[in-house]
Amino acid sequence: MFFISDTMAGAAPEILKAVEAVNDGLFLGYEGDPVCEEMKAQFAKIFETEVSVFLVATGTASNALALSVMTPPYGAVFAHEGAHINVDECGAPEFYTQGTKLAAIKGANGKLTCEGVRAALTNFPKGVVHRMQPGGLSLSQATELGTIYTVDEINALSEFAQSHGMATHMDGARFANALVALGCSPAEMTWRAGVDVLSFGATKNGALMAEAVVFFNQDLVGDFAYRQKRGGHLFSKSRFSAGQFLGYFKDDLWLKLARRSNDLAGRLEAGLMELPGYELACPVQTNQVFVTMSRELVLRWQEAGAQFYIWSGDPAQERQLVRLVCSWKTTDEQVDQLLEVARG
Ligand SMILES: Cc1ncc(COP(=O)(O)O)c(C=O)c1O
Repeated sequence: MFFISDTMAGAAPEILKAVEAVNDGLFLGYEGDPVCEEMKAQFAKIFETEVSVFLVATGTASNALALSVMTPPYGAVFAHEGAHINVDECGAPEFYTQGTKLAAIKGANGKLTCEGVRAALTNFPKGVVHRMQPGGLSLSQATELGTIYTVDEINALSEFAQSHGMATHMDGARFANALVALGCSPAEMTWRAGVDVLSFGATKNGALMAEAVVFFNQDLVGDFAYRQKRGGHLFSKSRFSAGQFLGYFKDDLWLKLARRSNDLAGRLEAGLMELPGYELACPVQTNQVFVTMSRELVLRWQEAGAQFYIWSGDPAQERQLVRLVCSWKTTDEQVDQLLEVARG
């Protein structure tokens, strides 16, 4: 019963095959190979527009490098207080941006609102040399709580950011999960809604390690290639990263895998909500379930061998917030087994 993270799952066999398929032959590296060319063409097709795509190893690098071209070092990037860039990247955004400040904003269900950003902006008045200047806005789709922004919400936030001279970044570590949940096109969820640059993650949804920075706003690209190289993220054997994306997109594998993990989380939610003692902390919209339960129930789950994160942190608290993540590899049996334990 492994519900700690979607990163616990291995790589999808189709992606392993796609990597093997690009193994033969001798090619130039450093994104100068035909596999990368094909991968970049596929991104353009999927997003129905011109894109600039750069491969990186991790979601953290993707976010931090993307932010580095959006904001000056004296800029502030507005993000939710629970955003991965704010709490889980060991200062990588500050490091790559050479000192940008992250302005952490509260918001229900892990989401930013224009009102929240507006209030935070008052601390960063434009033209006041003593204050950091509005540098950019970053939203996570899906959020760290597994919730999603609607297309209208993304539009409103990006318009608001633009009206204050800021570009919009989307952390899409779980992009596919959000996309299938919304049921819109990749273009609708991104550039048509005003997103300038996207951290596109595939690792959590069946790849080995495949992340990409995708620019829709070509004016932002500038010196990005140098930043990617200087940051140590220009792969010599880039075809193996690109090959993963070819396998990921082929026959809509990425959408199928994301649907699978979302559906399982939905099943888990439905099962838990039939039982006394469990309360949802936020709506279940993708592949993560956040539920509160008593310490006694947490202990029972742990003793039964269930693996999951206690999100609230404080083990002394009577009611605990628990995160349960389903992956493409989670089985129906694992969900049934956990529900059995939950029933007691
Ligand atoms: C929302 C979000 N963004 C970014 C990342 C970063 O990914 P990585 O661990 O590959 O740096 C994660 C990883 O958990 C995440 O959940």
